[in-house]
Amino acid sequence: MKKSLLDYTLKVRVPVILFVALASFIATYYLSRAEREGVGYAPEQPIAFSHRLHAGTMRIDCKYCHAGVTVSPQAGIPAVSVCMNCHAVARKNRPEIIKLTKYFEEGIALPWKRVHRVPDYAYFNHSAHVNRNIDCVHCHGKVETMDVVEQVSQFTMNACLDCHRNAPTRLAGIPNIKRGPENCGSCHR
Ligand code: HEC
Ligand code: HEC
Ligand code: HEC
Ligand code: HEC
Ligand code: HEC
Repeated sequence: MKKSLLDYTLKVRVPVILFVALASFIATYYLSRAEREGVGYAPEQPIAFSHRLHAGTMRIDCKYCHAGVTVSPQAGIPAVSVCMNCHAVARKNRPEIIKLTKYFEEGIALPWKRVHRVPDYAYFNHSAHVNRNIDCVHCHGKVETMDVVEQVSQFTMNACLDCHRNAPTRLAGIPNIKRGPENCGSCHR
């Protein structure tokens, strides 16, 4: 190989190849992160429902719509009839509300896309946490500022255990907070 060609290879091609490899690794890492950990997942929903507007600006209580949080494992997504308590009159002529009313009149459940999920073989219970005064914000972030709900924290086993072990410091503002369970059978029943 001629010296100038070798120089060119070492000084230009090798760094360029390394740079491209590194850049594509980083890009793949971040782009696939949503699927790997769920963090950042924010699917577009069939109706442009905004938590910022309803739970933020209008201050509707989370429990008005997610009535399961204190009584069951599931928080629950409200039926269209709950929306119609207001939207039978409020903003009736807006395109999104016309769509909403159609679902209601045809008796079709809204196909909301699920954002957060732990696998079936792991047991999670909202009421066990919420009734101990652990607020939604500790696990879901500031939903009342989101136009589109986005997953902001991981729900991996490590993430659950990390809070369980460190609850007294992580949840220091909550009086008499105990550690959560670490034995396998609590979450794998
Ligand atoms: C007026 C009704 C209403 C109120 C009030 C409301 N939500 Fe929701 N929430 C919904 C609906 C409808 C969905 C499903 C569509 C979506 O994801 O935006 C939802 C979805 C969610 C999800 C994602 C569920 C999933 O699929 O994983 C979370 C988390 C959530 N809400 C938390 C909250 C919190 C926290 C509050 C209070 C600060 C709140 N919501 C107030 C109606 C409501
Ligand atoms: C307590 C009353 C109330 C409930 C319950 C409620 N909304 Fe609303 N919603 C309103 C009001 C009032 C507005 C208009 C707010 C504004 O524009 O300042 C609104 C605005 C909206 C808009 C925006 C409409 C536009 O201007 O384009 C959508 C979409 C919407 N709501 C969907 C829903 C859905 C879906 C549900 C049920 C999960 C729901 N709302 C439950 C009161 C309510
Ligand atoms: C200790 C963490 C934690 C707290 C606190 C918490 N959530 Fe959740 N939430 C989760 C996890 C984990 C999932 C996924 C559960 C599953 O797949 O079974 C979830 C799922 C949801 C869902 C969709 C599935 C369902 O259960 O209906 C909604 C809606 C929701 N949360 C709303 C809320 C609201 C509202 C609050 C506060 C009143 C709240 N969450 C408090 C961890 C939490
Ligand atoms: C923000 C902190 C936090 C996170 C995140 C969290 N937990 Fe907990 N969890 C607690 C605390 C604190 C307790 C103990 C409450 C008590 O008994 O005082 C608890 C209790 C429990 C219990 C016992 C419930 C019962 O019936 O007594 C189970 C099961 C559980 N958590 C599962 C999970 C799973 C699964 C996840 C992850 C998807 C999770 N937790 C995430 C704080 C958390
Ligand atoms: C606080 C709740 C909690 C406790 C305690 C817990 N797990 Fe898990 N575990 C989970 C959750 C949530 C998942 C699913 C999310 C994930 O894959 O990280 C999981 C996933 C797993 C998986 C599947 C991992 C994979 O990559 O597919 C195994 C195996 C497992 N746990 C074993 C155990 C064993 C053994 C113990 C006791 C030493 C234990 N777990 C204690 C919550 C818990």
